[in-house]
Amino acid sequence: MDAMENKVKRIGVLTSGGDAPGMNCAIRAVARTAAAMGIECVGIKRGYHGLIAGDMSPLSPNDVNSILSRGGTMLYTARSSEFLTEEGQKRAADNCKFLGIEGIIAIGGDGTFRGALALARQGISVVGIPATIDNDIACTKYTIGFDTACNTALDCVDKLRDTMKSHERCSVIEVMGHRAGYLAIHVGIAAGATAVVIPEQELDFDRDILDRIRAARLKGRNHFLIVVAEGAGSANEIGERIGQAVGVDTRVTILGHVQRGGSPLTRDRVIASSMGYEAVRVLAEGRTNRIVCYDGCKCFDMDIEEALSMSKGLDEETLQLVATIS
Ligand code: F6P
Repeated sequence: MDAMENKVKRIGVLTSGGDAPGMNCAIRAVARTAAAMGIECVGIKRGYHGLIAGDMSPLSPNDVNSILSRGGTMLYTARSSEFLTEEGQKRAADNCKFLGIEGIIAIGGDGTFRGALALARQGISVVGIPATIDNDIACTKYTIGFDTACNTALDCVDKLRDTMKSHERCSVIEVMGHRAGYLAIHVGIAAGATAVVIPEQELDFDRDILDRIRAARLKGRNHFLIVVAEGAGSANEIGERIGQAVGVDTRVTILGHVQRGGSPLTRDRVIASSMGYEAVRVLAEGRTNRIVCYDGCKCFDMDIEEALSMSKGLDEETLQLVATIS
């Protein structure tokens, strides 16, 4: 599409909510795709707060050199209480109109997309890109950052297995995921955890943990790994109960924000770059209020309100897999 046909001449890109490894790859793809299409690109700092404060600067192809391998977001991220108000949303939209920014690409999670919808209602074209390590956005099979976070957590759990085996102990590891268990499930399967505790399944402590430890013991195991999603409960409490119930020396590790950092791995670099490329094309074609999604093979886009109305659950097959092979 040549510059004359583009429906937008200047766009802005921002990151909002929890950061995720791969956000920089998406930012880089937005800046480079825009330049290739003759569209000016502006980097907005600190999410919607920056849009209200006018904290932004041109983002040329050279400005995004050497960020592909860097975790985090070069545009920073922040939560904006002012943008939660109608007045703040209007101020943000007025800034866009004053600066000739005809479209906004918002990279983040569900909260980011609700903000984008609010901006759309003020007359600004918006496209969302799903980025969160939780992978809990219903409209897409993948969110930027998930694979890198899984591998970071898996590396920690593999290390914990070494020392737990030496001391014949039980390790209870709390992973992130907000109110979802996708991180815990993937790490649990990949690490060969004895049990995985997720918010999508009500915990039956005896059945889901104690029976599994006892069964592992009968197979001759002398150490045990229990992966707990942060939304499913307190790893400290679970560790306490295990120590009391089966008399095994137990240690608790809460992985925390280490899961949010690190150099994005291939899957995140490729999918984030594809999503950034797609988002610019959607705006250039004059389409608005869209979310760029991933179907497992390629990107597609869908209406933002439809996307926000969807819900996502864990399939029985995955739950059965975890129960069987742990
Ligand atoms: O949504 C990503 C996430 O890392 C969640 O998994 C976690 O619960 C939350 O962000 C932590 O938020 P904050 O960085 O504000 O402490």
